[in-house]
Amino acid sequence: MATTLAKAADGTEAATHAARIEHVSKSFAGPAGQQLVLDDITLDVAPGEFVTLLGASGCGKSTLLNLVAGLDAPSAGAISTDGRPALMFQEHALFPWLTAGKNIELALKLRGVPKAERRGRAEELLELVRLGGAHGKRVHELSGGMRQRVALARALAQESKLLLMDEPFAALDAITRDVLHDELTRIWRETRVSVLFVTHNVREAVRLAQRVVLLSSRPGRIAREWTVDIEHPRRIEDAAVAELSVEITEELRGEIRRHGQH
Ligand SMILES: Nc1ncnc2c1ncn2[C@@H]1O[C@H](COP(=O)(O)OP(=O)(O)O)[C@@H](O)[C@H]1O
Ligand SMILES: [Mg+2]
Repeated sequence: MATTLAKAADGTEAATHAARIEHVSKSFAGPAGQQLVLDDITLDVAPGEFVTLLGASGCGKSTLLNLVAGLDAPSAGAISTDGRPALMFQEHALFPWLTAGKNIELALKLRGVPKAERRGRAEELLELVRLGGAHGKRVHELSGGMRQRVALARALAQESKLLLMDEPFAALDAITRDVLHDELTRIWRETRVSVLFVTHNVREAVRLAQRVVLLSSRPGRIAREWTVDIEHPRRIEDAAVAELSVEITEELRGEIRRHGQH
């Protein structure tokens, strides 16, 4: 995929964005003809930025993320990313016949990391997601939260500039989710990876992001966006997080009222 490069003062070229979405629309063929799902979406994710894409279910969040991932093509408009993004979904999609460590090593192998280095690197990535010692564990021996940690480690193994996350914690209980929010924030700040994180959960969006982008429904359009300048570490129950969440929820309710039931 194409990348826009800018010459820095020292002559090196740095990407100006991790993802650039320009006037993107997407339609699917449905029983009643073409259904417009995304309408004229324009959005940039800066290098190192954490953006959450928030909207009601069915508004087109996964569709947009899949387009950015290159899994599908837009009907109109253009998308470019700085290299190939890594993906993480609600379902961990780990290979059950491989151990936690081997799942990560496979991602390293696909990236061309020499065999001799893979084991050590996988151990490091497991440490990063606080699963040191879990290398030999089978997927079925791990809890839901641990599986998502392995899935995160596997995504990070790709060393992509951009991490695309589609409701990765939605199936977890609230306490596990809260712990993983902390971990993701820590890892994002340590690695400076750019993140485009999809959720329908307003508090989660505010808890994590530097910028919250609200999508409307039917068709999905950018309704509004907020810069979140609440200091880290944030907690989901912080007054500032709650206050902004109330404001965003009001806006989201308005969107849902305008565009029918969910
Ligand atoms: N491959 C497809 N073919 C037809 N319709 C689709 C396809 N993928 C998504 N849609 C439709 O697009 C809309 C948005 O879906 P989706 O992006 O999954 O929403 P969200 O992730 O916000 O819940 C839905 O109405 C869905 O039925
Ligand atoms: Mg979805």
